This record gives sequence, structure tokens and C-alpha cells, in this order.
Amino acid sequence: MFIPDEFIQELKSKTDIVDVVSGYVQLKKQGKNMLGLCPFHSEKTPSFNVSTDKNFFHCFGCKASGDVITFIRKIENLDYIEAVKLLAQRAGLEIPEGSGQNSGLSKLRNRIYEANRAAARFYYKCLYSPNGKNALEYLHNRGLTDKTIVHFGLGYSPSSRFELTNYLKNLGFTEDEIFKANLGNKSEKGYFYDRFSDRVMFPIIDLRGNVVGFGGRIMSDIQPKYLNTSDTPAFNKGNTVYAMNFAKNKADGQMILAEGYMDVISLHQAGFENAVATLGTALTKEQAHLIARYCKEVVICYDADEAGQKATERAIDIFRETNAVIKVLKVPNGKDPDEFIKSNGENGAAKFRLLLDKCGNDVEYRIAKLQIRYDTDITEQKVEFLTEIAKLLASLDNEIERDAYISKISEEYSIDRNALSAQTAKYAKKNEPPPPMQTYKANNIQQNQNFNYPKSRAANAEEVLLALLMTNSDAAIAICPDFPPEMFTTPLYRSVYEKIKERAEKGLGTEPVDISGYFSNEENSRISSMVYLKPRENDPFRAVNIYMGILEKESRKLAPEKTAAMTDEEIMAHIQKNRKRKK
Ligand code: CTP
Ligand code: MN
Repeated sequence: MFIPDEFIQELKSKTDIVDVVSGYVQLKKQGKNMLGLCPFHSEKTPSFNVSTDKNFFHCFGCKASGDVITFIRKIENLDYIEAVKLLAQRAGLEIPEGSGQNSGLSKLRNRIYEANRAAARFYYKCLYSPNGKNALEYLHNRGLTDKTIVHFGLGYSPSSRFELTNYLKNLGFTEDEIFKANLGNKSEKGYFYDRFSDRVMFPIIDLRGNVVGFGGRIMSDIQPKYLNTSDTPAFNKGNTVYAMNFAKNKADGQMILAEGYMDVISLHQAGFENAVATLGTALTKEQAHLIARYCKEVVICYDADEAGQKATERAIDIFRETNAVIKVLKVPNGKDPDEFIKSNGENGAAKFRLLLDKCGNDVEYRIAKLQIRYDTDITEQKVEFLTEIAKLLASLDNEIERDAYISKISEEYSIDRNALSAQTAKYAKKNEPPPPMQTYKANNIQQNQNFNYPKSRAANAEEVLLALLMTNSDAAIAICPDFPPEMFTTPLYRSVYEKIKERAEKGLGTEPVDISGYFSNEENSRISSMVYLKPRENDPFRAVNIYMGILEKESRKLAPEKTAAMTDEEIMAHIQKNRKRKK
């Protein structure tokens, strides 16, 4: 998958970064640079800079920065090769023959996309065939119009266990590909069969329009109600947000986050095309950041049941790490959004609109929940209630917000404002994170007192190695599984590597955008700045091996008693043996 460096240079020289960025961000000239609102975090005053002569962008707010390829990767959620392809197409350049072909992973990924697309067409055809009569009726009964069904590409997986796999095989897909797409399985007796059978099918589409997976709903009470595609090399559930492909263009500052497929589809049909869902998993940081990238305000609209309300609180905590304003919409009468809209018939959309307009922010939601829990006419309970309120307000970063609620609550419950304020401040102090143990600066690693030599060689090597792994997912996927995190001496770098390794083992991307969800802003800016480090060795696989070798050597210095008896050759042989080297 190695696109020659010369090609990348040519591509960059023929691509005007201002031109590309202007497709997404309104830029104004400011001195030598162009300035606009950052597309990677929400802000009201522009801090997103594009430098024409340096061919570089940088956001002073969220510290996102990079060249035009990085920009496209981030904004379109693409991997490196895909971003290069997109830009090449734009520039009218042809990627040199051969490159891109020899990447096992991206080739497999593309085959999975193709198989999924073919499967989606097949399921759709089945839905409108005599075989799919019940399924179509089911969807109509649930209030969906044909227009909506087509829009979401819904389908039906027939009950015979062989139709899809036979269809795909006839199209030239191998059993291995079908298996890796999680569309088919091999039985113990050795025959190959469809994974989904007799279910209404919901294709899951990523931001580029690839069909990455499916959800399938059974039409009876049989469990599981929904069967979903497991993670594949083309699908990572925790990074995927259902209907984001539609919603991102309709957000207009706001997105509605629901729990399920049917909620989203009903909402879209009712005109709320800014609705998205996480699919049967608790909201992940990645999903939250993805959503927050496309809107300023997120309205959490989970089911009204207990599980939904618990999930709401978790989601609030996760979204608090983004810049999004958080609101909570609780559908009345224990219904989910789909049921609510449907039960109100023709007024469904209008009634939901009312709920949407009057829904409160997350603090109000939490206060309301506490109010229900305590009977504040009883003094004892009132004290407990206010103590909980103080804890809640202490968790707010924004002092103005905190102060506003202190006033409101103290008035409402006629208590001394200063008392509530003081109690809140006490809890806030407890919440403060301990001072950082160590600053992560490349050449300034704290020296460990137990070792009487500087560790900077190790730290430098760690940085270059991480840079390599973050820019060459293929190399990471091939090599990381055999290289232990313990080889890293710097705590941050070790945890970055752990995330990379974890993803690499699943065949997933290892770029800064892929792992950013696990780290703070500050750490992320440190991490993404490393990407520009270049090793002397050009071949990334070799370079990765070389730098791993350096870390291994350095780590031996840390544990002299273990290796003292071994010669250098023995150690190298040991390393070789412990690590499957791939070219
Ligand atoms: N889900 C899942 N597997 C299950 C149950 C649920 O993946 N066995 C996911 C689905 O994405 C589902 C979401 O969790 O859409 C919410 O679940 P639930 O509220 O039970 O389903 P609804 O969306 O209300 O589905 P329906 O209206 O079809 O009953
Ligand atoms: Mn439902």
C-alpha cells in the first residue's frame, strides 16, 4: 500500500490547501494566512488557520494541525490511502500502478464494502419480492413509507439459509470474504450459510457511503431482537454512528441522539433528519466526538425506561468532554421516540417538535432527577438533596454556569446562597485532578533515579516508533501483536502504544484520529505532533522493526540482571524469535 513519496509530493504541490479547506470551512484572509471557524471542534470565534505558503492548517483552539492529507482524513473520516485517493482524483492525478494494490488490509476492506453493498441490494430486492411480503407488511405496519424504506435502503433477509451466500458466491466473492464481512458462517458440518435469516435488514452506512454492516430485526418475539454485524476490518461499532451519513448534512447546529434504528428512522420520516443512534452499545468517546464534530448542540433522546435513563447519564458524562452543548429530551409516558411519534398520529412530528423546543440542558435534567428522588419537605431529605446538588454543581467546569444554578436553587429552596456556594466549592476542590506527574516532552523525560543514564534515547525512539505506527496502520497491524507495551518507558507513550496495539490486533486503523478518543486534548496535540517525525529508514516495515529493536535494547538497560549474561547476538536472536517479522 505504499504510495511512493514522490507521488505524495506531487499531489501536495498540485493541491491548493486553501481551495480544499474552503470546501468545508468559510475562510477569510487574515494577513498571510486564511482564518475560519474550526471544523474539528465547535467555536464561535475563528481560530482555525490555513497557511498557504506552508501548506498547513492549524487550529489554535483544539490544536488540530497538519497538511492537506491530514485535513481530508480528519474531515472525511478517511484513512491515509483513501484521503490520498480522494485528493488525487480531485487533482486529476493517477496513483501509480501497483500502489494501493498490495495492501492486504485495504484490499480486504474494499471487498467487504463490495460484498456488503451487494448484500444490501439483495436484501432490498427480497423485501419487494413475494418472499418479503411479511417483512414489507411489518415495516408498513410500523408506519414506514416506501419512500423511507428506499431512503434507508431497508431490506429482508430470506429464511432459507443459503440465498445470500449463493448470490454472493455467484458474484465472485469467496467464502473467506463473506465470512470476514460477517455475512456468512461455516457450520460444524462444513456447509456455509447466511448469517442473517428472516429478519428485516437495516444497512449501516459510513460517512463515505460505504455499507459497513447491518442490523437485522426479527419480526417475532424470538431473541435476539436485533442481530448486528460484529466488528470486521471494515466495521467498528464503537466508531460508527447510525444515520450519520444523512444527519451530518442536516444538522444545522443540532443533532438528536436516539437509541435505536427504528427511532432514528421514525424521526427522519417525521422531518427530524438530524437524528442519529449508537447501535446497541453504550456511547463511546469516539462516537461522541464524531457527533460533536458536526453540531454545536446534542439532544440526548434515549428511551424513557430505566436502562435508557442510566445510559443518558453516562452519555452526558461522555459529551461533557466535547464542546457540545448537551440537552436531554425525555419522552413522556415511558415511550421511545418512535412510539411517541407514532402514537400521536398526524401530530407526532409537531408534538415531538414541542418536546424538542422545551427540553432542558443536562444540568436541569440532573437536578430534575434529584428533585424526584427526595422529598424536600422533610428537612433531613432536603439536606441530602442539597448536598447532592452541591456535588452536581461542583462537577461543572463553567463557573458562571455553576453560579447561575447556585442562585436558582438557593432561591427556590430558600436557603443561604453562601452556604450552597461554599459547599459546592468544597466538592469542586476535591474534584480537581492531582497535579500531573510528568510532562511529556520528547527530550525532557524525567530521569528515573534508579537508573544512572539518561533515557532520552528511549523516549526519542518511542516517539518515532509511534509516529510510524500511526502513519502506517498496515505495519502496525502486522507487527504490533508481537511487541509488548512494557518496552515503552514513557507512561503516555506506553498507553498510546497500548491503544494502537489493541486496535491493530483487530485489524483496525491506528491513526491519531482513531485513538484520539482515549486521550485528553493536551495529550492528543502531543500525539498528533509526533506524526511528523520521520525515521531515516524509508520502508515503514523495516523502520518499525529497527525502532522496536532500539526499544528492546534500551529496555534491557533497565533490567540488566536479566540480560547481563547474554551476548548481543543472543539477545538479537531472542528478539527475532519472539517476534514474527513480516516484510
Ligand atoms: N439492540 C441490539 N440488540 C438487541 C437489542 C437492541 O443491537 N438484542 C440495539 C438496536 O440497535 C436497537 C437499540 O439497541 O435499535 C435499541 O433497543 P430497543 O430499545 O430494544 O429497540 P428499539 O429500537 O425500540 O426497536 P424496536 O422499536 O424495533 O423494538
Ligand atoms: Mn422501539
